[in-house]
Amino acid sequence: MTQEYRITLLPGDGIGPEIMAVAVDVLKTVADQHSLSFTFQEALIGGAAVDAVGQPLPEETLDKCRKSDAVLLAAIGGYKWDTLPRELRPETGLLGLRAGLELFANLRPAQIVPQLIDASSLKPEIVSGVDLMVVRELTGGIYFGKPRGIFTTETGEQRGVNTMAYSNSEIDRIGRVAFEIARKRTRKLCSVDKANVLEVSQLWRDRITALSAEYPDVELTHLYVDNAAMQLVRAPKQFDTIVTSNLFGDILSDIAAMLTGSIGMLPSASMGASGPGLFEPVHGSAPDIAGQDKANPLAQVLSAAMMLRYGLNQPQAANRIEQAVQQVLEAGYRTTDIQSPGTTVLGCQAMGAALIKSLHS
Ligand code: IPM
Ligand code: MG
Repeated sequence: MTQEYRITLLPGDGIGPEIMAVAVDVLKTVADQHSLSFTFQEALIGGAAVDAVGQPLPEETLDKCRKSDAVLLAAIGGYKWDTLPRELRPETGLLGLRAGLELFANLRPAQIVPQLIDASSLKPEIVSGVDLMVVRELTGGIYFGKPRGIFTTETGEQRGVNTMAYSNSEIDRIGRVAFEIARKRTRKLCSVDKANVLEVSQLWRDRITALSAEYPDVELTHLYVDNAAMQLVRAPKQFDTIVTSNLFGDILSDIAAMLTGSIGMLPSASMGASGPGLFEPVHGSAPDIAGQDKANPLAQVLSAAMMLRYGLNQPQAANRIEQAVQQVLEAGYRTTDIQSPGTTVLGCQAMGAALIKSLHS
């Protein structure tokens, strides 16, 4: 029997539409091969939505996303919208989408692809074999805490305020996701906080420690975030699963991404307790190369694979896509961001064509 899925596509800004087109072709190809049927519907988000309808997350978009089985997003943002008031910025649309779908768990894997080891800025012996997962809390912490704003004090001075806050239930639910993931990996979980300074982190550490009683098979460690950042570039192989708050996860996941050589290779999944997940590359919209057929579509394609694995429970189709990515890299095909001597540089569309060919082989 053919399994049917309704997928909302959010191509967004910059290179978004180009890389999304490649991912859709790949999905259509694996659908035929695995008896799946996708109904794709596009919706507006980010700067594209601001230009079309005057807001970065139209109600219609949120509605379409809620009614679908999974949401595949490309990227949002660009210089053009950087000076708009905050409520009209593309980033506000993305944060609204995460909050609106209650996607509290963001999974950001960083795995070294042996063929790309030379693309890393770190020594091969440091990064070879890196395979880690950052589990980032995504709908709380300083990104959403109140009060927030720029206020005027009694003395007439301006004062910018944000609030980092977590409640027990928010810490416990992300903690559980992380312990479960660690269980499926190498059973090592490192919780990252700033408990030496921040009360919110002390609570985080206390709750994660308490939770670990339910997961005696998982080895739990704790690191302060400054040390974690240092350890990630010093000896990244010590990590398997990392769980951390929204802001620390934002920063650490960029560091983890760069270990692999290019942020253009990394997918992510954002999940809630129920409802559709959101799947998107870790990289941004790269406005400097938009529309030039230079973008690397592989993170987008791997995000589609994550959608199949985590969102739709179709691991075989996901494996097939990941294999195709491996095969094109093995064949020596690269986009400019991951090129090295002796490889063949392809544009975004040609990389897509190489993937389709590999899927048919
Ligand atoms: C990310 C991005 C976003 C974030 C921005 C675009 C709002 O950096 O997904 O990591 O800070 O969460
Ligand atoms: Mg980020």
